[in-house]
Amino acid sequence: MDSLVKNFHFSLAMDSKWDCLLWFLLFVGLFKSLGFLWRTGLVIAQTFLIPGKSLSLFGVKSAWAVVTGASDGIGREFALQLGAAGFNVVLMARNESALKELATEIEQKSGVSTKIHLIDFTKTNEDSYAAITEQLSSLDIGVLVNNVGCGHSISADFVDVSQQEFGDIVAVNVTANVRVTRVILPMMIKRSAKSVKNRGLIINVGSFSGAVPIPMLQTYSATKAFLATFSTALAEEVRQHRITVEHLNAYFIVTKLSKISRTSLFVPTAKPYVAAVLSKIGLACGAAYTGRPNTSSPFWGHAVLDWYINSFPGGPSSFIETSFRMQRGLRASRLRKLEREKNAQH
Ligand SMILES: NC(=O)c1ccc[n+]([C@@H]2O[C@H](COP(=O)([O-])OP(=O)(O)OC[C@H]3O[C@@H](n4cnc5c(N)ncnc54)[C@H](OP(=O)(O)O)[C@@H]3O)[C@@H](O)[C@H]2O)c1
Ligand SMILES: *[C@@H]1O[C@H](CO)[C@@H](O)[C@H](O)[C@H]1NC(C)=O
Ligand SMILES: *[C@@H]1O[C@H](CO)[C@@H](O)[C@H](O)[C@H]1NC(C)=O
Ligand SMILES: *[C@@H]1O[C@H](CO)[C@@H](O)[C@H](O)[C@H]1NC(C)=O
Repeated sequence: MDSLVKNFHFSLAMDSKWDCLLWFLLFVGLFKSLGFLWRTGLVIAQTFLIPGKSLSLFGVKSAWAVVTGASDGIGREFALQLGAAGFNVVLMARNESALKELATEIEQKSGVSTKIHLIDFTKTNEDSYAAITEQLSSLDIGVLVNNVGCGHSISADFVDVSQQEFGDIVAVNVTANVRVTRVILPMMIKRSAKSVKNRGLIINVGSFSGAVPIPMLQTYSATKAFLATFSTALAEEVRQHRITVEHLNAYFIVTKLSKISRTSLFVPTAKPYVAAVLSKIGLACGAAYTGRPNTSSPFWGHAVLDWYINSFPGGPSSFIETSFRMQRGLRASRLRKLEREKNAQH
């Protein structure tokens, strides 16, 4: 009898231990699932249903928008669409004829004013930034799009990346973006101080490669991570001046830089991409899943990818090995293509 009671107690104790564990796991599972559903719901709502802040908040009809890397690709579309929205536009890049043509096109189509500023961001010094300050200081600047960027000429291990290429990527992707912001931000703050109606918008064009480290594009990838952290820190500082900072987490877009020439579900041309960005200001869309502050992946295909990568149990880092394999493949096929082109010339 005695041993029976003991046994009974023992099994009860065991039961309650296992019960506790079971309940614990159930609660963890429930919390995890609720979190997943909530964030997934946010992604869907922001990407497909809710409109972003109106561009008119940032001074349409009188204010200026400054776009770096405006002569081609994503920057060109930002310039065209901001012009169409009623902003006067300052275009910055190296190619004078391309900028002049674009300026004329924007003026004719949208009836706004334009200015061009020729600059090579790999060859800047103090005078270059003084020249930007001088050209822009009298303007009422409501929007800045830090778009300029350059990538690796070919995917390569870091030991094989030339000092020149490494230096240029950092110069354009980090230094140029930060220094242009440093020149224009005081102008935006001054403008905000003039009237509570004045607001500012700074868009920094980043990349998935800042969230998922990409072997063989290591330098580019790291500059984009810099931009992500810089943007979020800056956003919090300038909120008091009614300036919105938005860091774009962009996946591939059909441009010269991406060397992709065909669109697909996840790879749009610059036109719908930029239209998505400008209609979703202030919303995280795909980036809502992770809650990275002031970051957005507004184009729906990119939003789905952002959600997918981040809802993976291991998060973005799960994709490093796959990226390495992909980049090795890309390098091989690019080398083959260069070889074919060389042979064709002979
Ligand atoms: N395409 C993609 O798949 C993708 C994905 C993620 C992020 N992004 C980002 O999107 C941004 C724009 O890229 P994109 O694809 O539109 O590239 P793109 O078509 O090659 O355009 C780059 C623009 O930057 C200008 N530029 C390049 N080097 C410059 C320099 N040294 N000084 C001054 N201007 C320079 C170019 O004009 P000039 O030649 O006239 O100077 C051009 O207007 C980049 O920041 C890129 O990192 C692109
Ligand atoms: C400058 O842009 C024009 C098109 O507007 C293009 O034909 C030309 O090749 C570009 N020049 C360079 C150096 O990229
Ligand atoms: C530089 O930045 C641009 C856009 O900001 C991006 O498209 C490009 O991939 C970056 N290149 C490197 C090498 O970081
Ligand atoms: C940045 O993100 C935070 C959190 O999502 C938000 O409260 C804040 O308004 C954003 N700041 C700007 C300047 O957009």
